[in-house]
Amino acid sequence: MPGASFDFGGLTAVVVGASRGGIGAAIARAFQDAGAEVHITGAEPSPDPVDADRFAYTQLDVTDTEAVRAFAATLPRVDILVNCAAITRRGEEMAPDFFSHVLDVNLTGSFRCAEAMHPALKAAKGAIVNIASMYARFGSPRNPAYGSSKAGVEQLTKSLAIAWAQDGIRVNAVAPGFIVTEQSARARQDPAFVAGVEARTPMGRWGQPGDIVGAVLFLASPAAAFMTGTCLPVDGGYSVV
Ligand SMILES: NC(=O)c1ccc[n+]([C@@H]2O[C@H](COP(=O)([O-])OP(=O)(O)OC[C@H]3O[C@@H](n4cnc5c(N)ncnc54)[C@H](O)[C@@H]3O)[C@@H](O)[C@H]2O)c1
Repeated sequence: MPGASFDFGGLTAVVVGASRGGIGAAIARAFQDAGAEVHITGAEPSPDPVDADRFAYTQLDVTDTEAVRAFAATLPRVDILVNCAAITRRGEEMAPDFFSHVLDVNLTGSFRCAEAMHPALKAAKGAIVNIASMYARFGSPRNPAYGSSKAGVEQLTKSLAIAWAQDGIRVNAVAPGFIVTEQSARARQDPAFVAGVEARTPMGRWGQPGDIVGAVLFLASPAAAFMTGTCLPVDGGYSVV
């Protein structure tokens, strides 16, 4: 299973945006399977029922700076921060207020969490893994805010990597291709879109949340000790076509 060869025993991982059984939840489960103590958050009052007894869970709105700082203050240590919280609404992102909100959640929210956990990550000489997207690099007519936010996440990754290298913190990102989760459910109602993704992806399928975890665990591990500021596509080859 992905991640099984990594050992995170004795380390604490925080996965922000892991409440809906999607990519964040798969990452959290993999860190726990590899020995880490794992804290997860989400916008919902409770996590996916499958994970309810498995993780320490905090309902956290990443647009609330004080709430993010208060959450960070509850954590005795943070070795790994994974920023997964994000929203998108296909076809609704030309409205300026909603456009701003998407940026606030996806981009500024990732920054808020990183900034709030910076002291703990510095103390641990830890690692951040941000979750970007193919839409960081490709235009998306129906998700312009989401794409802008994810391009920002990729750029933020580079800037924090430089800023915090002196603190011993590595900052990297993973750019998933098209993955079957709640977030992509609306897009997957469009058969032409589903078929178009399959046709363009050399591996000929949509990804599953578990497809993303290996790259995240790798970037958080000592195997990536000389990697910072990079963004790894995990996309079945979508981005090389
Ligand atoms: N599904 C895909 O095809 C795909 C592709 C590329 C990248 N991604 C990225 O992967 C990550 C996980 O996505 P997913 O598909 O598992 O989605 P998901 O909708 O299952 O999970 C999104 C998470 O973000 C949280 N969230 C939303 N608004 C929030 C807020 N204001 N404050 C705090 N948390 C909030 C939700 O509670 C949830 O835990 C996201 O960053 C997403 O953009 C997904």
